Amino acid sequence: MADPLPCLYIRNARILMPDGQFIVGDVQVRDHLIAQVAPKLPPADPLADKEIDARGLTLLPGVIDPQVHFREPGLEHKEDLFTASCACAKGGVTSFLEMPNTSPLTTVQDALNDKLRRASEKCLVNYGFFIGATAENLPDLLEANPTPGIKIFMGSMHGALLVDQEAALERIFAKGRRLIAVHAEDQERIRQRREQFAGITDPAIHSQIQDNQAALNATQLALRLSKKYQRRLHILHLSTAEEAELLRQDKPDWVTAEVTPQHLLLNTEAYKTIGTLAQMNPPLRLPHDNEVLWQALLDGVIDFIATDHAPHTLEEKAKGYPNTPSGMPGVETSLPLMLTQAMKGRCTVAQVANWMSTAVAKAYGMTNKGLIAPGYDADLVLVDLETYRPVKREELQTKCGWSPFEGWNLTGSPVVTIVGGQVVYEYGKLHTNLRGRALTFEEPK
Ligand code: DOR
Repeated sequence: MADPLPCLYIRNARILMPDGQFIVGDVQVRDHLIAQVAPKLPPADPLADKEIDARGLTLLPGVIDPQVHFREPGLEHKEDLFTASCACAKGGVTSFLEMPNTSPLTTVQDALNDKLRRASEKCLVNYGFFIGATAENLPDLLEANPTPGIKIFMGSMHGALLVDQEAALERIFAKGRRLIAVHAEDQERIRQRREQFAGITDPAIHSQIQDNQAALNATQLALRLSKKYQRRLHILHLSTAEEAELLRQDKPDWVTAEVTPQHLLLNTEAYKTIGTLAQMNPPLRLPHDNEVLWQALLDGVIDFIATDHAPHTLEEKAKGYPNTPSGMPGVETSLPLMLTQAMKGRCTVAQVANWMSTAVAKAYGMTNKGLIAPGYDADLVLVDLETYRPVKREELQTKCGWSPFEGWNLTGSPVVTIVGGQVVYEYGKLHTNLRGRALTFEEPK
């Protein structure tokens, strides 16, 4: 008898199982959930069901990118929720967590509701939005819902979203239980060093102004407050060897940390070739930092990967340092970048899937995501680990239209991306009429 609901069958894929092993087999998706995973499932109903021949392709849980800046509302000349979500679908990113530095800032429930409404109208993939801390909005931080957590810019920010005074930080850490995610840079140190290095227009100076010590100071402070209140802390885009060593020595089990592909794969050498396109916060570091961050990731000191997708136009990036904005796009390249590293033997494909999906889902309490198993949400990506292709500017979906990785020859490109059981991207084509769902988050007990 035919299934009451039409199903999607993915046939003969190399499937990453929850235990980290691969099997070659079939996956049945019914409605928005994974229904069955087995070496051979019965034939589909040719009239009702859809089938994907995945022979030679690898099926992974869809990427969950836990730190992106998608610019809507207010900065849509750089990116908007539709273009960003198209870039996600092409990059195998099935869910994202977005940051509050839009205009208006996401610091109150109304602004959060507005983003959720916009996303429901525009996003091909699943979405969640951080609530941004100011020195004054504690009641909003306590009540915001749904949100993955509170974002605090301890540095590298201006205006209301900059919370750089210890007393204000302590008030936030002291009250409530929800996750606090910090951009850890010491604003006072940055201010002093900006003065010290004023007049220098070589963008490489950016990494010296916002140096390793600036990052370490803020991470130490966040860690101290987190320990004092046993408060769930997540350290965003960890960038230095010193911070990784600190966490290796002293990381309570309620603390997590992430790293970006660019802090693993790029360093200050990049200023020579791509100039201000390499400018971001926290800045790129030295090759030694790349090595220590990799080891920390492999050892579990760093828990997962985020892109910090932060698009700016080429025009803005051409203004000349220090008038150039910091940030680079990432959602389209992150999975192929990491899978290329896996194929080089630097890590395994299963580790990449853990860092880019399973561990993120766990950290943010996204209980039904991050694994290929019956009952889990059917957020999936089929990748090709055999073909290598260069990153090309003209193929990018992000509105900013560039990547710091242009010309890099990568494998692991998504061939099919599935969000909640719907095929949003297949063989180069986006299905732009489809929409993702609002994410929900189980708070720490
Ligand atoms: O380089 C960055 N750019 N780092 C951030 O944390 C913010 C971002 C942006 O919004 O442009």
